[in-house]
Amino acid sequence: NKGRYEHYMQKEIHEQPESLTTTMRGRLIQGGSCKATTVLLGGLKDHMKTIRRSRRIVFVGCGTSYNAALAARPILEELSGVPVTMEIASDLLDRQGPIYREDTAVFVSQSGETADTLLALEYALDNGALCVGITNTVGSAIARKTHCGVHINAGAEIGVASTKAYTSQIVVMAMLALAVGGDTISNQARREAIVDGLYDLPSKVREVLKLDNEMKDLAKQLIAEQSLLVFGRGYNYATALEGALKVKEVSLMHSEGMLAGEMKHGPLALVDENLPIIVIATHDACFSKQQSVIQQLHARRGRLIVVCSKGDAASVCSGGSCRVIEVPQVEDCLQPVVNIVPLQLLAYHLTVLRGHNVDQPRNLAKSVTTQ
Ligand code: UD1
Ligand code: BG6
Repeated sequence: NKGRYEHYMQKEIHEQPESLTTTMRGRLIQGGSCKATTVLLGGLKDHMKTIRRSRRIVFVGCGTSYNAALAARPILEELSGVPVTMEIASDLLDRQGPIYREDTAVFVSQSGETADTLLALEYALDNGALCVGITNTVGSAIARKTHCGVHINAGAEIGVASTKAYTSQIVVMAMLALAVGGDTISNQARREAIVDGLYDLPSKVREVLKLDNEMKDLAKQLIAEQSLLVFGRGYNYATALEGALKVKEVSLMHSEGMLAGEMKHGPLALVDENLPIIVIATHDACFSKQQSVIQQLHARRGRLIVVCSKGDAASVCSGGSCRVIEVPQVEDCLQPVVNIVPLQLLAYHLTVLRGHNVDQPRNLAKSVTTQ
């Protein structure tokens, strides 16, 4: 049921304040000082010791689910101190990459049925790793075959392009980071800031959804383009990959997400006054590096669209012209949840304006159950 919306993708983008609330429900526990400081992930509590002691945490997924894990990787590394590595499921299988008994392998899948992810799970089980699932589908193959896991509880997702599952996956993995990290005096302030940030996230996402008309207007400007680049780094490298994936899979426009730190090692050759480039430059520890990326792109007369934090519009684009999209600032590790929303809206509007099928893009399936 699409309710008042024309398409499922549109509905699912706009219901993210609610789906995020459901994802967190019952999992953030009020502390003694009336401040929430504890995370309860019922499905993991009996395995937390093993996860904490593991030598490595390996994220495994495909498509958007892989990107969500990439977004959560920095905070999991920071709070747990355990090295976190990333595997595209098919690539892990192609390489028969090393997985050990001392590893915790985390399988991220909206459907819980993706063949590549499922086969990678069977491979990790054979190799003796603790296997954890993060799925949206109770009773799915991945939910059943993992040793333990977390349901993201985002509600059924119908649009082939994943939107609300992506943001709920990131939130679950941020909660996983808090749970694995445990309470220490030294990280108490950081933990409280993240928990407060999680509480505020649905309202911040509601705020960023107000960019809908602005993104429709941007889509009108980009409607006839052949290609689009998206640059991000740090917490928002994943935003660049996922934003570009959304645009290419539904609007059928070529788009690539790139690590901004790699710009000068190749992609810079593409820059001219015609190719549209989105730069994610919200306020975090990488901000000054992104400012210098923007300056280098200006120097090559790049056609820039900059996503920045509210209040940074003037400073982010000094010395050149660019289109600025201002988003509310949240705790740095949660910023990918906010930043992806305007790019989801852009992909949606581009697709409708270009006259393509939003909910069932050409050649794609919601759940890819063959290898
Ligand atoms: C569970 C209940 C929820 C109830 C809550 C009350 C289910 C599905 N969930 O939620 O309805 O409100 O207790 O405390 O009944 N699992 C995997 N692999 C996965 C995902 C999950 O093995 O990929 C396992 C978990 O380890 C757990 C079970 O499935 O044993 C349910 O997981 P989850 O729904 O996340 O647990 P709770 O949030 O505790
Ligand atoms: C398919 C979908 O390719 O599978 C993508 O079209 C999705 O949207 C990918 O990200 C992985 O799916 P899942 O269900 O394992 O998260």
